[in-house]
Amino acid sequence: MSKNVYDIVLLPGDGTGPEVIREGQKILEALQEGTQARYALTTVQGGAQYYKAHGSEWEPGGRERVEKADAILLGAVGWPGVVRPDGNIAGYELVLGLRFGLDLYSNVRPCRLYPGVVHKIGKEYKQVWNPENVDMVIFRENTEGLYTTAHGELTRGGATEVAIDNRIITQKGAERIIRRAMEFAQKRERGAPEDGVRRITCVDKSNVLRGCQFFRETFQRIAKEFPELETDYAYVDAFAQWVVRSPEHFNVVVTTNMFGDIVTDLASVIQGGMGFAAGGNIGDRHAMFEPVHGSAPKHAGKNEVNPFATFEATRMMLDWLGERFSDPRLTADARRVEQAIVKVLHDGTARTYDQGGKVTTSQAGDVLAAAVRSIP
Ligand code: IPM
Ligand code: MN
Repeated sequence: MSKNVYDIVLLPGDGTGPEVIREGQKILEALQEGTQARYALTTVQGGAQYYKAHGSEWEPGGRERVEKADAILLGAVGWPGVVRPDGNIAGYELVLGLRFGLDLYSNVRPCRLYPGVVHKIGKEYKQVWNPENVDMVIFRENTEGLYTTAHGELTRGGATEVAIDNRIITQKGAERIIRRAMEFAQKRERGAPEDGVRRITCVDKSNVLRGCQFFRETFQRIAKEFPELETDYAYVDAFAQWVVRSPEHFNVVVTTNMFGDIVTDLASVIQGGMGFAAGGNIGDRHAMFEPVHGSAPKHAGKNEVNPFATFEATRMMLDWLGERFSDPRLTADARRVEQAIVKVLHDGTARTYDQGGKVTTSQAGDVLAAAVRSIP
């Protein structure tokens, strides 16, 4: 059921988070200029710097407020030296706490290279990968694997002797991420750049790990429900080189939590760097979207980081909302943001430092907002 107004909570968090969320907000505001407001934006404070100042990771009532939102746009969390007494990073609640608490089991990370984007290789900025060859979406399991609390230490006489993290793969967890990835592959407009084939690749380490064998068996069983998809397999170590060498082969990829964390950062290189990498943490009723780059303390407060990952996260959020509430206006807004991203990157008019340019974060936001306004 569509709504008149959608409740969006902005969670700027730490470091460069607030700088990029401000630009995402500009885009949401540009989309609804001259029309009846569609998006009600509420900012909730929290994260590591908030924890340092106030002793809690959320502003009072923040967690409850977030739960009521139609969608969440997160900046970044984490700050050097700010750690909770339990050893977790301060800001944990905003990312991992919400992933587990709201059961956001699909971590969806598109890896697409837009024409006009360059790669930083050493000190040079070049076009290395062909944009036509990079267009995949990686689905990472987001609520289990190595990220559960099934860990601990053996401490004797005050000294830690052993630390253990158990990797948990459940049938429920594997099934649902695999099914979401296959459903997505089935309805995606495009197949793999190489041959247009609707291919779904299972990335695991099933030559060694029992949990990965179970993940792959589950993949094979669920694939029977999707006969029009081509199934494909890669061990995670081999995938790490194929994704760089032959990205055109990949269309939709599904993998477990920790492997997904690593390979999506790697894949960001072929999409132009972390400044372009966005992710959606998606459950059945809630979803949170974010640029993946983190709080980047070195760059914080300088108005210099690349906000395109946040624009892409905003596009993903609108797309998800459009589908969730069956509202074509939101899907159209997502398209407008996408067209604006394509245009601005193609024109090269918003290149931040990571692209060898001099445009600031807020200038890039102004350029994108203007492009959004110019698209009907
Ligand atoms: C990511 C991040 C997080 C993760 C951190 C911030 C806990 O690296 O979203 O990829 O490890 O999942
Ligand atoms: Mn990561």
